[in-house]
Amino acid sequence: MRRKRESGLWVMGELQKINKRPGEGLFISFEGPDGAGKTTQARLLKEQLEALGLPVLLTREPGGTPIGEAIRKLLLNPSFKEMTVISEALLYSAARAQLVSTLIRPALDRGEIVLCDRYLDSSLVYQGLAGGEDLEMIAKINLWATGKLLPALTILLDLEARRGLERLQKAETGAAVETWQGDRVEQKELSFHQRVQQGFLQLAAREKERFFVVPAGDKPEVVRAKIWHKMQEILTQKGYL
Ligand SMILES: Nc1ncnc2c1ncn2[C@@H]1O[C@H](COP(=O)(O)OP(=O)(O)O)[C@@H](O)[C@H]1O
Ligand SMILES: [Mg+2]
Repeated sequence: MRRKRESGLWVMGELQKINKRPGEGLFISFEGPDGAGKTTQARLLKEQLEALGLPVLLTREPGGTPIGEAIRKLLLNPSFKEMTVISEALLYSAARAQLVSTLIRPALDRGEIVLCDRYLDSSLVYQGLAGGEDLEMIAKINLWATGKLLPALTILLDLEARRGLERLQKAETGAAVETWQGDRVEQKELSFHQRVQQGFLQLAAREKERFFVVPAGDKPEVVRAKIWHKMQEILTQKGYL
């Protein structure tokens, strides 16, 4: 128990047990390294749910609210290279607090399906497991920021870090890996992005019930079909289908 507690992941696991609130909407997050296909798959899922006439809200992190989008600009600005990891963690959690209380929680209370393109696991991974800051503290701050709201399902798009970066580079500039300039986060060295990929897998291994890991190297349609298969199960359980 003591070792688990020190890892910080303990906080997440324990709180998840008491945080199940069945009957209230359905909260789903998309996670994974940069370029894994989160935005693509979140949009595809939104379209599929809407085609069935289900109420769905798609939002993204950091952002999703006017304050959150302003914080996003700070966080991704490539000229702010001096930003400390702790400062980063607090900015992400501030944007998240605003998003949960003004958008996500009200939508869940209306019984809607909320899809979030990144959520607090990104903070645990980018600032904690890959960024080297205190994981338990990051978990605590985020549970405070979100009123302990965790997704019912977290779809982890798993892709080798370099392949994800290559996809982004190709999409944005057509430039080669060596000459491409990404945003402040994307610009970090390859080893950081590799720690990100491993960090997500580590979280998924600890919370097998919440995470659904999808290999993201296949074509978008193949990835979409795998996600939809899992979604049908949950939508049926929750009474949406
Ligand atoms: N399965 C896929 N195979 C190939 N390219 C993809 C796939 N999914 C997304 N892409 C492309 O890769 C780039 C990054 O995808 P995106 O959905 O923005 O990733 P993320 O939101 O995880 O950073 C986009 O140009 C997108 O069109
Ligand atoms: Mg994206």
